[in-house]
Amino acid sequence: GKVRAPTHIISTISDDRGEEPCYAGVPMSSIIEKGLGVGDVISLLWFKRSLPRYCTQFIEICIILCADHGPCVSGAHNAIVTARAGKDLVSSLVSGLLTIGPRFGGAVDDAARYFKDACDRSLTPYDFVESMKEKGIRVPGIGHRIKSRDNKDKRVGLLQKFARSHFPSVKYMEYAVQVEDYTLTKANNLVLNVDGAIGSLFLDLLAGSGMFTKQEIDEIVEIGYLNGLFVLARSIGLIGHTFDQKRLKQPLYRHPWEDVLYTK
Ligand code: ACO
Ligand code: LMR
Repeated sequence: GKVRAPTHIISTISDDRGEEPCYAGVPMSSIIEKGLGVGDVISLLWFKRSLPRYCTQFIEICIILCADHGPCVSGAHNAIVTARAGKDLVSSLVSGLLTIGPRFGGAVDDAARYFKDACDRSLTPYDFVESMKEKGIRVPGIGHRIKSRDNKDKRVGLLQKFARSHFPSVKYMEYAVQVEDYTLTKANNLVLNVDGAIGSLFLDLLAGSGMFTKQEIDEIVEIGYLNGLFVLARSIGLIGHTFDQKRLKQPLYRHPWEDVLYTK
């Protein structure tokens, strides 16, 4: 019989050996014929299954809403400075992407982890927030530099509105809102931010769609798929900022001395 040489790589999401590439077994032509979108492609390549329309629509809304947030945020700033240093597109893009992390855009997975654990254990928002404080951990998904109680993040409202009318349950998001109600009693800027909204709502999507086992949901949360949504989305804006600087022929950036506190 045939002897199968051991392989060095295992891959389960795509295959280009046939007449046309397949994403999770779905041929590219069928994706185009059915008029599917980027939300469906993410479903196939990240979650290895076709998700219902409201789920893929939600994914696309996340991408649209997180694509950019102006030139002043960490990621865009880095991309702009890098582009102005004469670097290429990929360098400018990754320079911006490297700022995504626990403070900026990369709190989605931790928000999902902590909200899931606290909600599943029926912790009151008070007990949850205070236990985080005792551990010296800022609640991921809460807080914003410029948004506040009286100037809420529009993106959060849009995500909540969509989910409330399309998701079978928004249990985790409602929990996150209760946490926000409590943190807002502490300070005006401790709002539910876009990372927290996506993190909690994605838990609702995973649990409510009936497409994932409990074990699969735990694995998705543990591995941390959800920061990927922000990374993917913000790449659109970072690429835009890079082109913008190059189009404007902006010179090398140097930060003004006046804006630095020189001290011993
Ligand atoms: N949980 C609990 N307390 C908080 C939190 C939080 N998430 N955020 C701020 N505070 C409190 C703390 O007491 C903090 O004091 P400390 O520095 O001694 O810990 C105090 O508020 C002062 O914080 P600010 O200076 O007002 O917060 P800042 O504006 O510097 O930070 C930030 C904003 C980075 C978003 C912060 O709220 C945070 O770390 N949040 C958690 C991470 C997160 O969700 N990031 C995603 C933001 S959305 C996005 O990037 C797209
Ligand atoms: C963003 O999406 O980049 C923002 O929420 C961060 C910010 O400080 O505005």
